[in-house]
Amino acid sequence: MITLLLLIFVGIHRAVAVTHSLKYFYTSSSGIHNFPEYLSVGYVDDVQISHCDSVTNTSVAKQEWMKKVTDEYPDYWRDETKTCIKKQQAFKESIRVTKDRFNQTKGFHVFQRMYGCEWNDETKKVKGLEQFGYNGEDFLAFDLKTESWIAVKHQAFVTKQKWDHSKHIAEYEKSYLTTECVKWLKMYLRYQEKSLMKTVLPSVYLLQKSSSSAVSCHATGFYPDRAELLWRRDGEEIHEGVEKGQILPNNDGTFQMSVDLQPPSGEDMQRYECVFQLSGVKEDVVTKLEKAKIRTNEDSSSQIWIIIGVIVAVISAVLAVAAFFLYRKKNGPCKDKDYTAVQQKTKPENPSA
Ligand SMILES: *[C@@H]1O[C@H](CO)[C@@H](O)[C@H](O)[C@H]1NC(C)=O
Ligand SMILES: *[C@@H]1O[C@H](CO)[C@@H](O)[C@H](O)[C@H]1NC(C)=O
Repeated sequence: MITLLLLIFVGIHRAVAVTHSLKYFYTSSSGIHNFPEYLSVGYVDDVQISHCDSVTNTSVAKQEWMKKVTDEYPDYWRDETKTCIKKQQAFKESIRVTKDRFNQTKGFHVFQRMYGCEWNDETKKVKGLEQFGYNGEDFLAFDLKTESWIAVKHQAFVTKQKWDHSKHIAEYEKSYLTTECVKWLKMYLRYQEKSLMKTVLPSVYLLQKSSSSAVSCHATGFYPDRAELLWRRDGEEIHEGVEKGQILPNNDGTFQMSVDLQPPSGEDMQRYECVFQLSGVKEDVVTKLEKAKIRTNEDSSSQIWIIIGVIVAVISAVLAVAAFFLYRKKNGPCKDKDYTAVQQKTKPENPSA
């Protein structure tokens, strides 16, 4: 039964995991204190791969495995830095012109671009994305089907008309989004896979908010994502009073998951254990339920809730920022020479121009 469930689980999970994506987000802002005027970040699936901003003016790898890119492209990071500096100048202009079009002089404003591709490694289907946002709302987008621009806001109409006139831009967008981008994505996935080939067992924590709330068994840092986490009583898996969470990605490419157990009465405790099983690994990680091992809010020596609090605060901050900065854009693939030429001629980086 367990095997069957596991198979179904793995099957479902795989079906979900076959779509990979490479996305870049460029964000330029004005009037926001303590936030760089320009920020560009790249993502492979949910993992951040690169970062550059107007404070550092340097493009850096956010994953160890991304540093391997220089084996094939020695100038990769230097070129990315150049692109980053060039883009921020164009984006500064974009935000200025867009503010004008909206008749805005004061306040804070955010101008964004998100682009990239999704690729399904089973169906080989490719989807390209290219859009601009202003102050958290859609502004302008590229429609791959018609190979034309959609002015979501009427203030973007001038740009749409201008860019629709350039066959170059449409052709470049199409070839970048459906070919070039996928090429980079596959390369990054290769690096990532190589670095994560081996299986990694997680750290397991027992957490409880208060003595009456559920005991959460939290496993984090495992790889790959084919894993099971369960509670046993007297050596038998139990389902009653147990609530399983989903497997979630950590930002370093590993995974985490939790399984909650309604608190057993005190004397029963030692009959319970939390078991983590990783596909392809023989030994399980078994954590006996013991009062001393549970980290709680009430226990001042415990740091974990503080850590979780900080993580939640950071996530909220990121979400708040994301509400403004809904868009990001491409990087590696963006340094394409043809596109640069197009940019210089028609300034496609600058939809407000
Ligand atoms: C980063 O580069 C931009 C564009 O060249 C420049 O305007 C800015 O002053 C630079 N930032 C720093 C901190 O040097
Ligand atoms: C822009 O704002 C000014 C001052 O409020 C106003 O006089 C002008 O009519 C506005 N222009 C547009 C195009 O909305």
